[in-house]
Amino acid sequence: MIIAANLKTNLTRKETNEYLKEIESFVTSKNLTQEVLVFPAMSSLDHNDTSIIVGAQNAYATRDGAFTGEIGLVHLEEFAIKTVLIGHSERRHILGETQEELVKKFNYYKELGFKIVYCVGEPLDKREAGKSEMMEYITSQYAGIDTEYENLIIAYEPVWAIGTGLTPSLEDIEDIHTALKAKSTAPILYGGSVKVTNAKEVLALKNVDGILVGSAALYGEHFCSMIAFAQELEVQ
Ligand code: 13P
Repeated sequence: MIIAANLKTNLTRKETNEYLKEIESFVTSKNLTQEVLVFPAMSSLDHNDTSIIVGAQNAYATRDGAFTGEIGLVHLEEFAIKTVLIGHSERRHILGETQEELVKKFNYYKELGFKIVYCVGEPLDKREAGKSEMMEYITSQYAGIDTEYENLIIAYEPVWAIGTGLTPSLEDIEDIHTALKAKSTAPILYGGSVKVTNAKEVLALKNVDGILVGSAALYGEHFCSMIAFAQELEVQ
């Protein structure tokens, strides 16, 4: 399974380096074989000699150039980063990134062979509008995206579940993941208020191939426990 931590705007470079060491030492000491991804804040990227896959939370569709406040390919190459998160709800809804802009990023990093974790998910009003409107909204987030890209991972993160402590029911998560599987064979992670207390039941669901964890992942030991849960479920 794929167990991913989105550290968002948290942890300095020093703290991130310590965090990565903690996670790696847990994974290696227990011989865990899960795919573990960590997305640090941009300025916390570093030359990490680690078996954990480190990715960027965002990057502009450029090698370099005049795009104030953005980073490009050269900045990722400096740290041998080959994984990028695209379309996170905070980028869509707080920073106003459009589907068109996301498609540009997607295509740029796809051409370079990056592993892309592409996020989709509905805001509360779309959920409350009923299943067909909700699915229509999520489908619109697939527009222009090559769903057959071999290095694609989808993350389904309902906007209203992110950082709120609320989650869809387990049945709902399974239903939506099953519907999304019909659109793409890519693995699908669930994200949105995953905690050490619910991670195992979420991971056990059909068509859930992993989790993308925000706040709870900031506690290294909690994130480690979630990796161990995935391992337990796999050997069962
Ligand atoms: P929380 O786990 O804090 O709800 O955040 C989820 C998320 O946005 C991961 O990308």
